[in-house]
Amino acid sequence: MLVVPAPASLELGSKVANLAGLDTLEVKWKRFPDGECCLSFAGEVRDQELVLIQSTYPPQDTHLMQLLLLVDAAVTQGARRVSAVVPYLAYARQDKPFRPYETVSIKTVLKLLASCKLANLITVDVHEPEALNNEITVLNVSAIGLLGEYLKTLNLKKPVSFAPDKRAKGMADALSRIVGGPAGWFSKIRDKASGEIQMQWESGDVSDRDAIVIDDIISSGKTTAQAVKALKELGAKRVYSVCVHALLANDAYDRIKKSGATEMIATDTIPSKVSTVSVAPVLAKTLKSQF
Ligand code: R5P
Repeated sequence: MLVVPAPASLELGSKVANLAGLDTLEVKWKRFPDGECCLSFAGEVRDQELVLIQSTYPPQDTHLMQLLLLVDAAVTQGARRVSAVVPYLAYARQDKPFRPYETVSIKTVLKLLASCKLANLITVDVHEPEALNNEITVLNVSAIGLLGEYLKTLNLKKPVSFAPDKRAKGMADALSRIVGGPAGWFSKIRDKASGEIQMQWESGDVSDRDAIVIDDIISSGKTTAQAVKALKELGAKRVYSVCVHALLANDAYDRIKKSGATEMIATDTIPSKVSTVSVAPVLAKTLKSQF
């Protein structure tokens, strides 16, 4: 089996291959003057089992297009089976029409990958696992174990893990089982037009504790910033912002720092200045067990 670290995930792809003890095949690529990408494998892929590693963080459309081009080229060039590790799966949050006549973008992305004959897709803590069921075989692995092990090294005092919305409750519960202490949550309502949110404390003892806000994605940072602020007001000592996918759009980093977060911790599904925890071990383990 050959691991192909693709342009968006060169470092992570190499780490995964090293940990899994697998050989890599390089991708060469360039941009034409008009902006289009041209990619090629550094060698023959005929009869090979290929695993492409390409995250689809911003610019999402470029990274997605590169992935589609590589999958299709590998199949056309005679690879025996082509799988893809896509640590951050773009468009996963658009899993239904939230307003009339909207696109259901994740369905379209999966259809495109399926039509290029991708055999398997492995992703990490995808936003809504149920949205993945129909088009393609998908394995959704979790980085919560790795984040939890890292948090344990910080010697948190009386930790409490907090979900900033109902959907993240499972993550907070899973994290609390690793770091110890209880879990709590906020309910959240987001205005679909403006993106503004309202948050309300629902449960969880915070007073005199170190609190962790855990979410799958930080984009604008508004969700986490409001949760951090609320937890401080409720009497938390220190508040840690933890997520899997740190999109950190625009001023999200500053917004969360200003809200009073002690530290921000994310994985490297998206390379960022807070990507302290690598998902390489869980991906390497998955490759070794699946193939
Ligand atoms: C929403 O359901 C997600 O789990 C995250 O809470 C959301 O994507 C965070 O977005 P933002 O950082 O823009 O508030």
